[in-house]
Amino acid sequence: MILILLGPPGAGKGTQAKLLARDLQVPHISTGDMFRDHKARGTELGRQVDAIMASGGLVPDDVTNSMVKDRLSRPDVAGGFILDGYPRTTAQADFLDQLLVSLGRRTDRAVSYEIAHELLVDRMSGRRSCPSCGTVYHVTANPPRKGGVCDREGAVLVQRDDDKAETVGRRLQEYEAKTAPLKRYYQERGVLTEVAGTGSPDEVLATTKRALGRS
Ligand code: AP5
Ligand code: MG
Repeated sequence: MILILLGPPGAGKGTQAKLLARDLQVPHISTGDMFRDHKARGTELGRQVDAIMASGGLVPDDVTNSMVKDRLSRPDVAGGFILDGYPRTTAQADFLDQLLVSLGRRTDRAVSYEIAHELLVDRMSGRRSCPSCGTVYHVTANPPRKGGVCDREGAVLVQRDDDKAETVGRRLQEYEAKTAPLKRYYQERGVLTEVAGTGSPDEVLATTKRALGRS
């Protein structure tokens, strides 16, 4: 299954993508995680995208598309994959469409997580993650067992640079202007499913699986 997860920043795409990837046994491909990995490793690409991400803007389409094209050339995507945070503009969606056609494949479903604006701000400002293994927590909704420390690695949890209050607003604006129109894009292709992003992560997972006919 080729599945695209859409939704505003903080909607729970990454949380659901991890659960779904385990369930469907397919890779989880997050362009945000890939960029953060480049930044952590200090690569040329990481340096190129650092300031853009910290400001809450979008990385240019050609840079993002070429990174995704590379990733989709790896053999582990043969049985399907989950895209989280990509595509994010109509140009990226067109690029993906053409790439998939050239590979004799197509998008099976685009799930859009729907959630109120106030909840998004709370989810982003409360998010903490492990700098070592990447596990994502929330200070109240999904806290670690021991305050501020990763359950798996014991590392001190950190806040993403772009989850600071001043950046969150810009990310939401970018979403509304450039990414929200993709709902219509996939609706017109008959593959869009809207899912409520509220409730516990397990409840959202159950609703998603029902919507995908996989429960
Ligand atoms: P990216 O990493 O994709 O960030 P985003 O889209 O802003 O989304 P988030 O990761 O903030 O939220 P999420 O929906 O994954 O929510 P999560 O599951 O973590 O992109 C970052 C940046 O990279 C972009 O701003 C851009 O600069 C660049 N970029 C990436 N892709 C790009 C592209 N295609 N083109 C151009 N630029 C690109 O959950 C959030 C919090 O809520 C967590 O704390 C979690 O524990 C909690 N939570 C989740 N689900 C629930 C629930 N059901 N109940 C309670 N709490 C919950
Ligand atoms: Mg994410």
